[in-house]
Amino acid sequence: MKTVELAVKIAKEAGTELAKQIDNSFNIEQKKSSFDLVTEWDKNTEHFIKESIKQKYPDHEVIGEESISNESNISLTNKLNNKSNIWVIDPIDGTSNYVHGLPGYTISIALLKKGELSLGVVYDPHNDEMFYAEKSRGAFLNNKKINVSNQADLISSIIATGFPSEVSKHRVPVLNQIKQIGTSCHNIRVYGSAALHCAYVAAGRLEAYWEPGLNIWDIAAGALIVKEAGGKVSEMDGEKFSYEFGSFLCTNGRVDNEMIRHFNSITSK
Ligand code: IPD
Ligand code: CA
Repeated sequence: MKTVELAVKIAKEAGTELAKQIDNSFNIEQKKSSFDLVTEWDKNTEHFIKESIKQKYPDHEVIGEESISNESNISLTNKLNNKSNIWVIDPIDGTSNYVHGLPGYTISIALLKKGELSLGVVYDPHNDEMFYAEKSRGAFLNNKKINVSNQADLISSIIATGFPSEVSKHRVPVLNQIKQIGTSCHNIRVYGSAALHCAYVAAGRLEAYWEPGLNIWDIAAGALIVKEAGGKVSEMDGEKFSYEFGSFLCTNGRVDNEMIRHFNSITSK
């Protein structure tokens, strides 16, 4: 079985179980604040994905949101850039949706080789939509090739953002960004999963997605899927996206300049 097929199989199995469990009661805990939740299913799913990868690739490293040690950004970046095979997973991206029994939660699995994204899988169990990409081989949704949209005008674009759990540093700025950009685009969506937003940009459903304060596991898989679908990934000021990123912007490669101008105009106010 090819590595990407294995990642797809694992995501499908994990997601099928999550969809089965969503209406049952389960344990919910707070992490850094009441805006930041983890459920027993985040932990179980992470364990399942890790074990499934390790079974096939015992020498690969696997890092995931719920078991990552508290390392600095710099040491995490060094690790991502230097390891020959390191998997970055988010067992549930969109935990708040999962807690509320809402759709819009995904499983995100990425493999990096010496800092290069090599494969990415984002699975939406609610809609049974499997988005995946391998470097230089294009992006797919349920085995059909996908491409970003051709829309070049922000005023005709539907774009998305997220409301970060860190309130004063990240959520309040997003509210200001919405105020600035909200009347210059067709509309804004907030589905509650960074990985899903990326997948929708790749599939041409959204023209762009931005959010500050994300973590690498939220967007590693999604970033590759967007790039392989012909889109563009950067920081919100247009700078090259690195693993120490402070913000994230992915677009169809046509509306990014206009969005960056809006973001820059807020910073310069
Ligand atoms: C969250 C989701 C959400 C985004 C938050 C993330 P989690 O991830 O991606 O869309 O707005 O910033 O933290 O905590 O559900 O894995
Ligand atoms: Ca998560």
